[in-house]
Amino acid sequence: MTKNIQCLISAGPTREWIDPVRFISNPSTGKMGYALAEEAADRGFLVDLVSGPVHLDVPKGVRMIKVETAMEMEKAMLGLFEKAQLIIMTAAVCDHRPKHCWSEKRKKPDFPNYLELVENTDIVGTLCQRRNNEQKVVGFAAETENAHNYAREKLYDKGLDWIAMNDVSDKEIGFASDFNEVTLFSRSGDSIPLGRKPKIEIAKGILDQVWP
Ligand code: PMT
Repeated sequence: MTKNIQCLISAGPTREWIDPVRFISNPSTGKMGYALAEEAADRGFLVDLVSGPVHLDVPKGVRMIKVETAMEMEKAMLGLFEKAQLIIMTAAVCDHRPKHCWSEKRKKPDFPNYLELVENTDIVGTLCQRRNNEQKVVGFAAETENAHNYAREKLYDKGLDWIAMNDVSDKEIGFASDFNEVTLFSRSGDSIPLGRKPKIEIAKGILDQVWP
């Protein structure tokens, strides 16, 4: 039983608003992140779950912080990061947001053909720059091609301890499915396939490795 270890998990998508009725987002349902939060709480971690908009119940014993945009998620994660010993970034953060957000619904004839976008902060990359030696940071890599190489690149570029790679081009796993298939890569060179399993089993496999 893991006692009094603070675990910070992010889950779900972010929404990047164009006007009050339209946004840019992605198909994340939060299932992977909530499974990790549930399993971490079952193991005795004190879990803060920063969640984008999803339709899931909060797992028992987990404190949830609701956010919508990448900027809100960044603020919440930075605020909770210092006290956390294990950080797992499962959220599908939108890499970009519209440069301009209209305060009123944009009428169809006035809606632009092109949207100017600006980059959101790489949240987990920022956390890794600020971490201390006691903190362990785990990221996810959602890939559709060249998955092993891209995941390893993210592991090193972002400064993570571990990255969980899933192939989101496979409709049976990844986004929205109750199943996932993950390969875990560590900074010290491990490559651990966890197989195709329900997300709660994947969560167990990840926690067994990153916090043995
Ligand atoms: O929610 P589900 O429907 O269960 O689906 C699960 C999932 C497919 C969303 C999940 O398993 C997953 O892969 N999550 C990561 C999604 C993602 O954004 O991957 P990425 O390869 O684009 O990003 C790499 C890492 O950087 C991720 O840890 C991500 O959270 C983080 N990131 C990305 C962009 C950004 N601006 N800030 C970040 O911190």
